[in-house]
Amino acid sequence: PYVIASPCLDVMDKSCTEECPVDCIYEGSRKLYINPKECIDCGACEPVCPVEAISQDRRVPDDESAFIADNRAFFETVLPGRDEPLGAPGGSHKVGPVGVDTPMVEEL
Ligand code: F3S
Ligand code: F3S
Repeated sequence: PYVIASPCLDVMDKSCTEECPVDCIYEGSRKLYINPKECIDCGACEPVCPVEAISQDRRVPDDESAFIADNRAFFETVLPGRDEPLGAPGGSHKVGPVGVDTPMVEEL
């Protein structure tokens, strides 16, 4: 899957969400997250991000590698203030802004 890393923090341009054919880019509080279970690796999101925050998991820069697991954690762990993991809800526009970040991002 593709991964959103630190350049998205506090930028949240959201051009990526308009390009994704499966609507799998979800909005946290300070950044967005790609759902690895829903991303079909089409790559359409990568070139439209103005701060180059998006890359395929195997091309994420070494100093950003923690974001690979962290994008997954956004969906597979229970986020602060929630009762259950988001899982694979099948579309970010349907879900709307989630409004919280992972613990890793909260600490940045
Ligand atoms: Fe973030 Fe870039 Fe998308 S700044 S919201 S990853 S277009
Ligand atoms: Fe969507 Fe980007 Fe994956 S456009 S399908 S999140 S590669």
